Amino acid sequence: MRCFLAILGLALCLGCSRDRSGKKAAEEPVPDLRLVLVTDLKGYLEPCGCTSNPLGGIDRLAAQVGTLRDGKSPVVLLVAGDTFFDTSQLAPARVDQAKRNAKTLAAILDRLEVDAVLPGSTDRAQPPAFLRELSRGTGFAWLVMNGDTELLRISAGDLRLAVIGVREGTSSETLAAAVGTAQAETDLTIVLVDGSRRDANRVGAIDGVDFVVQGGLDEDAPAPPHRVGRAWALHAGRQGQGLTVVDLYRQKRGEPFVDRSEWSRRARVEQLARRIEDLASRIAGWEQAGDVNRADLDAQRARLAELERERQLLDAPAVEADSNSFFARWIELPKKAPRDEGVAKLMRKHDKAVNEANRVAFANLKPLPLGPDEVAYVGSEACSACHQQAYAWWRNHAHGLAYLTLQQRNKEYNLDCVSCHVTGYEQPGGSTVTHNLDGALVNVGCESCHGPGAAHTKNPEVPVVRDTPESTCVTCHNEEHSDLFDYEAYRKTLVVPGHGLPPLER
Ligand code: HEC
Ligand code: HEC
Ligand code: HEC
Ligand code: HEC
Repeated sequence: MRCFLAILGLALCLGCSRDRSGKKAAEEPVPDLRLVLVTDLKGYLEPCGCTSNPLGGIDRLAAQVGTLRDGKSPVVLLVAGDTFFDTSQLAPARVDQAKRNAKTLAAILDRLEVDAVLPGSTDRAQPPAFLRELSRGTGFAWLVMNGDTELLRISAGDLRLAVIGVREGTSSETLAAAVGTAQAETDLTIVLVDGSRRDANRVGAIDGVDFVVQGGLDEDAPAPPHRVGRAWALHAGRQGQGLTVVDLYRQKRGEPFVDRSEWSRRARVEQLARRIEDLASRIAGWEQAGDVNRADLDAQRARLAELERERQLLDAPAVEADSNSFFARWIELPKKAPRDEGVAKLMRKHDKAVNEANRVAFANLKPLPLGPDEVAYVGSEACSACHQQAYAWWRNHAHGLAYLTLQQRNKEYNLDCVSCHVTGYEQPGGSTVTHNLDGALVNVGCESCHGPGAAHTKNPEVPVVRDTPESTCVTCHNEEHSDLFDYEAYRKTLVVPGHGLPPLER
């Protein structure tokens, strides 16, 4: 039996080195170039960790880049779009933290040996003096900090690359001139764009462009490569949730590239399958109704057969060994993806530094004063004397541990985090990043849902909010931080014996 399994295993294993046609595939040839792309990073060192499947983390991205630099093909690492900043308009109180974040990110990108960055509009909106300071410490090219276009020449293995950065809204004439200039002594032309799909389309329409790397889309998962003119547009999602890798095989200069990615093939198969299913069901409907004329019905049947043939063709391997081709794939970075320990260390150091800097900088940031009819917050402890059971339940509920979640990560003074993990944040008589009634307002306390309780605590006849409306929950449970939030389902889990239900008998 064991022997049989071994043979089966061997057969399965041989199976993996065969392509779909059943021929044994030759040893996978080494790509002439490996492009690694990151778009719209938006200053994300890591995801907040609030959602059900957090993606990203620059330490995971770094580990992946390390794996991709396998020593076989030359690697060119390009970054485009909003990179160091999430927003163009920083509130004054946030400037310091955002700058520290940008510096840490720039240092890490440098360590990853990024070749070039085309900063996006959020980056360019920052004061020029700061951008100069930020770029001075880095070894990579910052494209188009002035003007409309900028050309960077990179040699990678046997290939001479022209990497052109283009600013949003640049005219087609200027673009064409820039691409034209780059053509001499160039084997491959890659244009980095920050802008809309239309901007990418305009670039792709220009003769001589092979690839357009699209920044500025601000979309989660990227679509597979798509044609723009003779070129291919590539995109790598946002916030460092993953990266796009393109392995290139270049046979002839100036010839267009063929996309041989499984990623693209699967997307086309899925799209065709949907169209086939849709048409087949419509034909069935017409056949049943019997009121469509024969010729029209035949025409639709022929179209269906054509689509099915198309799908079969997609199943056959299109080996065009003598043409320029590429394989693109998207590598997502889930929680379980390996991390680069060195980079993770820098991130932890950064978190501690930000925490400490904010603790000091905002030491005197007092809560807003109470207006005439407003009631102060008192903290959950103050409710415990009269609502023991509710308090005991809450203490061990996620809401009662929300601040610990931040403390464990050195983020309790982080301006990106604190607002939803404490009570009464920036409310009159509530809390600030540093002031929380000596800890009484940390965690998502009773008053986050029942409203400020000073008056009720003194005199229980003064009412508080009994049932919490959805609008209160979603100030924290928004789409970005609570992807699975469903008011009814979530609320039900809060209504337990001692809190909304009669206490259990002893
Ligand atoms: C001194 C005792 C006392 C304290 C302290 C106290 N409560 Fe109450 N609370 C009561 C009493 C008594 C009631 C009325 C019970 C009833 O009507 O069933 C009540 C009722 C409530 C209700 C239900 C309101 C309603 O309309 O049915 C909520 C919610 C509530 N308290 C929340 C809180 C919160 C939050 C705190 C802390 C900020 C708090 N209580 C502090 C005594 C107290
Ligand atoms: C002030 C912000 C805030 C408000 C308001 C708020 N929550 Fe939460 N909620 C949180 C945070 C933060 C967590 C996660 C805490 C942790 O684990 O560190 C959480 C966790 C939860 C969880 C636990 C989820 C799990 O996977 O275990 C439930 C359930 C929940 N909230 C329901 C609600 C409901 C229902 C409301 C409205 C009635 C509400 N919350 C209002 C911030 C809030
Ligand atoms: C807009 C409000 C909001 C902000 C800002 C926010 N969080 Fe959260 N966080 C939540 C909510 C709501 C949950 C619970 C989500 C759920 O279970 O559906 C949560 C859950 C979490 C969890 C999961 C806890 C667990 O035990 O599963 C972690 C970790 C976390 N947050 C960390 C952070 C960090 C770090 C930041 C800052 C980078 C941050 N949060 C900023 C609202 C927020
Ligand atoms: C995330 C929101 C949330 C938090 C935090 C929360 N509650 Fe509630 N509370 C509710 C909801 C929802 C109900 C159900 C109301 C209903 O069914 O009418 C409720 C019901 C109650 C009631 C009235 C029902 C009863 O059992 O008599 C009291 C009292 C109460 N909560 C006290 C507290 C206290 C005290 C705390 C803190 C230790 C607390 N709650 C924390 C949302 C919350």
